[in-house]
Amino acid sequence: MSYENFLNEMQAKLKHIVPEPEIYIKAEIAYEINKLKAEKNAVILGHNYMEPALFHSIPDFVGDSLGLSRIAAQTDKDIIVFCGVRFMAETAKILNPEKTVLLPAKKAGCSLASSITAEDVRQLRAQFPGVPVVTYVNTYADVKAESDICCTSGNAKAVVESLEGETVIFLPDEYLAGNVAKETGKHIIFPSKLKTGAHPNLDYQMIGWHGRCEVHEQFTVKDIEDIRAQYPDVVILAHPECSPEVVAASDYSASTTAMIHHVEQTNAPNYLLLTECAMGDNIAAANPEKEMLRLCRVRCPHMNEITLEDTLAALQKDQYVIEVPEDIRLRAAKAVERMIQIG
Ligand code: 13P
Ligand code: SF4
Repeated sequence: MSYENFLNEMQAKLKHIVPEPEIYIKAEIAYEINKLKAEKNAVILGHNYMEPALFHSIPDFVGDSLGLSRIAAQTDKDIIVFCGVRFMAETAKILNPEKTVLLPAKKAGCSLASSITAEDVRQLRAQFPGVPVVTYVNTYADVKAESDICCTSGNAKAVVESLEGETVIFLPDEYLAGNVAKETGKHIIFPSKLKTGAHPNLDYQMIGWHGRCEVHEQFTVKDIEDIRAQYPDVVILAHPECSPEVVAASDYSASTTAMIHHVEQTNAPNYLLLTECAMGDNIAAANPEKEMLRLCRVRCPHMNEITLEDTLAALQKDQYVIEVPEDIRLRAAKAVERMIQIG
């Protein structure tokens, strides 16, 4: 495609939400990225939280953690550039050991992933022998390696229900765990509230951990009340990393992709997303007829590390290469593949 046509397409997609001068600058970089991507036989995966100009110009596939894991498992390209955060790029590497996986920004972490270590999981296993461990994909490879099965926000309930036995250890997001406990009717408890030692007679069914997403933990029921007072017809969608109280006060809760589909498939006067704010912009760009309200005081600093400039540098310099030690990768792959099979 010529540069003129590419620029025209970007302008058509983004004109409602990105100022013209910004589109001119970003279109040049995005065009370079797409040329280099083809030359190097690379695929670009973009999480739904990427900023709108990047989201709508360079990814071959966009989606939530589950969707992108599935695509990563199937790609035949030599290089996977992951426009997302480190745990997502690690998941792609776990599933594609022979491929080069690049993360454009070194510092793209995640507060949930850094809330738990492999040693923490080993200690929980010792405390609750025989209880299966479910870990959210928002964890690093060594934590996944200590787990029986992974889950994402899109399949957490199905994963928990797929396990035999009444009790599961669900790590590390206390709010996602609380939301899944509600959905499955399970009683949840946190080890910090228990006396140390073994617990042979469990009278609870979900054991949680005190990890939180630094973005979603900040939304409150008061935010919802205030918005509803100002916009009585608003439909509020909350990601399940929000607290169970916030999820209960909202109208809909699901993974980022399911939230996008819900907005696209319904017809409310306006919508508010309680999640990383770029996603509202991305929906507004693709669906100019939708009225998206913004509550943008909370941003994900990690997702916002990923820029078009850094993605171009990633392809030019083959940086930053994601490595996972083979013994960890093999064990982590079992937990991730078991999750992908469940759907
Ligand atoms: P999704 O899997 O729903 O895209 O969520 C990932 C994430 O990091 C949410 O904060
Ligand atoms: Fe992690 Fe929260 Fe950022 Fe998602 S939004 S990557 S869970 S810190």
